[in-house]
This record gives sequence, C-alpha cells and structure tokens, in this order.
Amino acid sequence: MALDLPVVFKYHVFACHTKRPPGHPRGSCMENGAQPLWDRLAQKLDAKQLADVSMTVSGCLGFCRAGPLMVVYPEGIWYHPEKPEDIDEIIQSHFVEGTPVERLIIVPQR
Ligand code: FES
Repeated sequence: MALDLPVVFKYHVFACHTKRPPGHPRGSCMENGAQPLWDRLAQKLDAKQLADVSMTVSGCLGFCRAGPLMVVYPEGIWYHPEKPEDIDEIIQSHFVEGTPVERLIIVPQR
C-alpha cells in the first residue's frame, strides 16, 4: 500500500560521528578524519540556509573501515568525502543542483 505523505526534507544527511580508540579493530569514522568534514558540512548548510536539507549526527552506520561515511536520503547515496572541498562539491552539486557527485559515491561492503 502506497502512502501519500508530505516531504519533510528534500535531502536528509546522516553523518557518522562514531569515535573508537586508536587501534580498535573496527576503526571508526572519527578516527578516519571525519570531524573537519562534518564541521564543514554543518557550517556550509547553515551558511547557505538550505532549509530543505537536514543533517543528523549519527552513530555507526555499519561500514566503519570505509569511513568517513555519510548517507543521503531519499536516494540512499553513500558518500566517502576525504577533504573539506569534497563537502563543498556535494553541497553545491547534489543539494543545490540535484546532481550527485559520482566520484565520491561508494557502495559500502561488509
Ligand atoms: S564508525 Fe562510521 S560507519 Fe562505523
């Protein structure tokens, strides 16, 4: 049965903020350098006043070794940004222009 529900956000981003101790066998997104990326994401979304894009601080998304990881809905696109400029590109291309950034997309593997 299809539901006819209103769209709350055009894009909803979940950014993994999990931090495990150095050397932990699972690793973690924060150990892999996520903090400056998520700081940039929050700052840029706020500065651009993209009210239809929501960022949620998430716990582990389950693919720790591939981190830093963020996943964007409704498409379910997983991004692995590596530097702050990647965040700028995702915001402009995906969230403003509607074109996902293919070079930063990954398909996470367990
Ligand atoms: S720690 Fe980020 S996906 Fe697990």
